[in-house]
Amino acid sequence: FSLRHLNTFGLESEARYFVEARSIEELTEILLDPVWKQTAKFILGGGSNVLFTRNVDALVIHPVIKGIEKIKEDDDRVWLKVGGGEVWHDFVMHCVENNYGGIENLSLIPGTVGAAPMQNIGAYGVEIKDVIESVEGVSIQNGQKRTFSKEECQFGYRESVFKRALKDQYVITGATFVLSKNPVLNVGYGDVKKTLEEMNVASPTIRDVSDAIIKIRQSKLPDPAQIGNAGSFFKNPEIPSGQYAELKETFAEMPGYVVSAEKVKVPAGWLIEQAGWKGYRRGAIGVHERQALVLVNYGGGNGNDIKALAEEIKASVSVKFGIDLNAEVNFI
Ligand code: EPU
Repeated sequence: FSLRHLNTFGLESEARYFVEARSIEELTEILLDPVWKQTAKFILGGGSNVLFTRNVDALVIHPVIKGIEKIKEDDDRVWLKVGGGEVWHDFVMHCVENNYGGIENLSLIPGTVGAAPMQNIGAYGVEIKDVIESVEGVSIQNGQKRTFSKEECQFGYRESVFKRALKDQYVITGATFVLSKNPVLNVGYGDVKKTLEEMNVASPTIRDVSDAIIKIRQSKLPDPAQIGNAGSFFKNPEIPSGQYAELKETFAEMPGYVVSAEKVKVPAGWLIEQAGWKGYRRGAIGVHERQALVLVNYGGGNGNDIKALAEEIKASVSVKFGIDLNAEVNFI
């Protein structure tokens, strides 16, 4: 079964077996079925953060559990329980339409609701950990349901327990979000304020902020429906403040955001651009011309070629700046 249409890089990869799970019942049935018990399993959500370098010799389970349910509300807040198979951006639009604030800055991020907690998706000053109350999962091993509190999820920058201690152990079937009916809008990051001004918006609404974010993303990030990609390929590295100060002596323009007294986060896109890769193309693959942090497959590209290019980029950034880049994308 070809997974080409189930990963945003658009890479060819054959699944040995493939099944869709439309409900928790269907999912547990597959997980507990004695016929499949011994077969290796691979969970594939929206496929927006994977790089296939080979075929998947496993039973690929694609959860498509749907539903957005209001489970509680008070004067200020609303609690929504959302199926993991909902498309993330559709959920954001649902909140925008109902005037529920909190995730408008996360508009247009590719992928599903179930994949979002895995790496604590974030953009323009907001991360989903800011609005998540709990995450629901099913154990791949024994089919048991479990609810994880936000603390148990151990969210960090593009990190969670599901990428670490509990890697490959749970299928995320849904999550519960707490949204605000009287939100404080977050327009402090990057170009958001400037874009709102360009849109002639004086006192922005949730929808205005969402529209601005969509505009910014469309202006620099390639649409996976047109050019295969998985968003940021690397994480933005955090380096010791001392190293940052030293680098500044040579590279006065180097941007950096203070994360703590000891650490500065440097935009990987800047490092990659300075190392000369922005817009680089080799056959069917390359580095996006408007955002150097995004590797692209123009069509017919191969996962191993992208992996090799990523390694070259990593090596050249290390030579030029002494900074080690780490991939955000999961290599399969
Ligand atoms: N920059 C360059 N050249 C480039 C790209 C970036 O010099 O080609 C520099 C510029 O100085 C720019 C700065 O990097 O001001 C930051 O760039 P941008 O605002 O585009 O954000 P980013 O740090 O590259 C991160 C997230 C994105 C998220 C944006 C906006 C990571 C790994 N990436 O990118 O998330 O959308 O901020 O908040 O943290 C993703 O995770 O897949 C993703 C797209």
